[in-house]
Amino acid sequence: MSCAMLLQCRHSCKKGNRLLRMLATSYSSFVKDKAYINGSWVAAANGNTFSVINPANEELIGTVPDMGIQETQSAIDAAHVAFDTWRKTTAKERSAILKKWFSLIESNKTSLAELLTKEQGKSMADSIAEVTYGASFFEWFSEEAKRVYGEIMPPSTADRRLLIMKQPIGVAGIITPWNFPIAMITRKLGAALAVGCTAVIKPAEDTPLSALAICQLGEEAGLPAGVVNVITTSSKNTSDVGKLLCESPRVATISFTGSTKVGKILLSQSASTVKRVSLELGGNAPFIVFDSANIDKAVTGAMACKFRCAGQTCICANRFLVQDVIYDEFVKRLAEAIKNQLVVGNGLDEGVNIGPLINEAAVNKVDDFVTDAVKKGATKIVGGNKNSLGKNFYEPTLLVNVTTDMECMKDEIFGPVAVIIKFKTEAEAIKIANSTDVGLAGYFYSQDLGQVWRVAEELQVGMVGANESLLSAAEVSFGGVKQSGLGREGGKFGVDEYLEMKYICMGGI
Ligand code: SIN
Repeated sequence: MSCAMLLQCRHSCKKGNRLLRMLATSYSSFVKDKAYINGSWVAAANGNTFSVINPANEELIGTVPDMGIQETQSAIDAAHVAFDTWRKTTAKERSAILKKWFSLIESNKTSLAELLTKEQGKSMADSIAEVTYGASFFEWFSEEAKRVYGEIMPPSTADRRLLIMKQPIGVAGIITPWNFPIAMITRKLGAALAVGCTAVIKPAEDTPLSALAICQLGEEAGLPAGVVNVITTSSKNTSDVGKLLCESPRVATISFTGSTKVGKILLSQSASTVKRVSLELGGNAPFIVFDSANIDKAVTGAMACKFRCAGQTCICANRFLVQDVIYDEFVKRLAEAIKNQLVVGNGLDEGVNIGPLINEAAVNKVDDFVTDAVKKGATKIVGGNKNSLGKNFYEPTLLVNVTTDMECMKDEIFGPVAVIIKFKTEAEAIKIANSTDVGLAGYFYSQDLGQVWRVAEELQVGMVGANESLLSAAEVSFGGVKQSGLGREGGKFGVDEYLEMKYICMGGI
């Protein structure tokens, strides 16, 4: 998402907050207490449910069915049957449903954002931005549906004609995380539906309500029964449900966004059926600021990249590398920005731009990174403690004198903690940036054109922000290299994850 879009979202968020005060309960029409299988809203077979809690204040937002193997199998069967007719619809018909779905999300943006803030914790500005971003995938793929072309190759023998056609792969198992409960569904589902696949979605246990809300609008948009199914599960059943999706011969592809650890488990479980697997896994993004950088822009970029969604995105800057000549100036300016610009609190409150982390375990993990770094010699410039606002809050933090042996340099922090390491040369920065076995996003600020090309080429990542720190958009291909994943989502290549190529050799011409 561009800065302009983000600013626009922040502006519309202010308007949104005013509207919220007028329509205080508008989100509640989206709070479902059933999951969605074969076109019906259903409870778990054994009646079990689990609670969805607002991480800002522990308020109960709703309860949803705690489903397991039995319901997952029903959802897979429904998607399998529906595939037979959905794959035969025209691209124009599928496009019309996605377009309508996009419009419905757009026109319910404020209510969806409120629900998202309640169950995920992110600020209203971040929620409005996510709903906008999420909806954009349905718009994008409604257009791409019509552009799934095959190819005709010149034959080497005169009596043959050779062609490749592309066909939908089948049922997609879609497993999504809690940090982007809407956009991570639409980025996968938009592509799958556009080309004629059907889907079984398992949203994260922390954020099932946003997934069900999106599904409710899909029903309104005219989705036929069985084409999209949503299974809700607590953490107790999550691994069984994931395993069934990976091992079922009726599921043709798995698309997962989440940790590298879980991605590896799903990949190995999918081996039994030689399934297509797309993985968008963890990152450890370097954010390099060279001496030639425009410091104003670098600080603005750093703030957006590090603190968006309280630092809980896979592409958040994880390691700041700052060149020696501008190091002191950059640290001073970033510290001022953190102190002056960030307002922590309940994401629904006006002016708040950092909400809680998803749960207490996440806060403890972030605190462990800070404790380890300080023990090994890092200095706290801002924050560095759990926040007195509640057990799920952490203070926006800036650590300096960071070294490569600290855990925060090796692993995703996933919280509002910026850590800075000083470097001397471009070669040294590249070496540190690439010294990790993951490679999702990487960012750098430099006004030296030669350096911009060199560094963009050298960073071992799937996505580069060169003088830009917000790079997500529907029209680009999102994904990583090394252990950050397999495949690409969004953009014109996003549909490839859901297509098979079929070669047809026509003889006797
Ligand atoms: C993610 O954190 O996985 C997604 C972030 C994005 O699409 O911007």
